[in-house]
Amino acid sequence: MVSTTLPTWASGLWPAPTEAGPAPAGAIDRPIAFEPMSEADLDAVHAVETSAYGHPWTRKHLRDSLQAGYPAVMLLGEALPGEHPHPPRADGRWLMGYFVAMHGVEEVHLLNITVSPVHQRQGWARFMLQALALWSRGQGAHTLWLEVRESNAPARRLYERCGFQAVGVRRGYYPLTTLQREDAIVMSLRLDERAAT
Ligand SMILES: CC(C)(COP(=O)(O)OP(=O)(O)OC[C@H]1O[C@@H](n2cnc3c(N)ncnc32)[C@H](O)[C@@H]1OP(=O)(O)O)[C@@H](O)C(=O)NCCC(=O)NCCS
Repeated sequence: MVSTTLPTWASGLWPAPTEAGPAPAGAIDRPIAFEPMSEADLDAVHAVETSAYGHPWTRKHLRDSLQAGYPAVMLLGEALPGEHPHPPRADGRWLMGYFVAMHGVEEVHLLNITVSPVHQRQGWARFMLQALALWSRGQGAHTLWLEVRESNAPARRLYERCGFQAVGVRRGYYPLTTLQREDAIVMSLRLDERAAT
């Protein structure tokens, strides 16, 4: 069944893109919006997830996150003349990226951040992290946490560039093959001291 109600975190507190910071310098100038992810979006989100990542979340994993009420936000961009956004959405906009987080006591844990391959290296992940940091501070969080695969060099570089620091290792945290596992690097960003930049 498709959920039609917005979760409580989505009501009024999410920053508009203009509040998150200047639009990425290298980005194409297109109107963008942050919108809460709902179950109706799962086909498009899962299509981006599998196209962007060698270790994608399953559709069930995404759906369970929504049903658990985790903040899940999409970055949507208007199609410019002549563009045919993929994956297709009913409103004709691009699903440029999204993230899923978990709100704890005075902290927020980033569970997933993904940018569609066509829109990568244009500053959108940094932009989404800025928005997440702004929202998290508004919720009273002092720290943003995440885990990243040791081998995921692009993501590790992104987090370092946004001010995250490696604070630990979880041995064998992620499945790698049916027989092997991979370590996770635990990273954190103090929201009191600096924003994700
Ligand atoms: C990681 C990911 C989210 C980055 O998204 P993005 O929108 O391309 O990142 P940005 O354009 O905002 O990049 C910001 C910085 O991150 C670093 N970065 C991003 N992608 C990189 C890459 N492929 N190689 C090296 N550095 C990279 C760079 O330092 C970059 O700054 P610069 O362009 O000024 O050098 C994207 O590659 C992705 O969706 N990957 C698959 C899913 C994934 O791994 N998610 C993270 C799970 S923990």
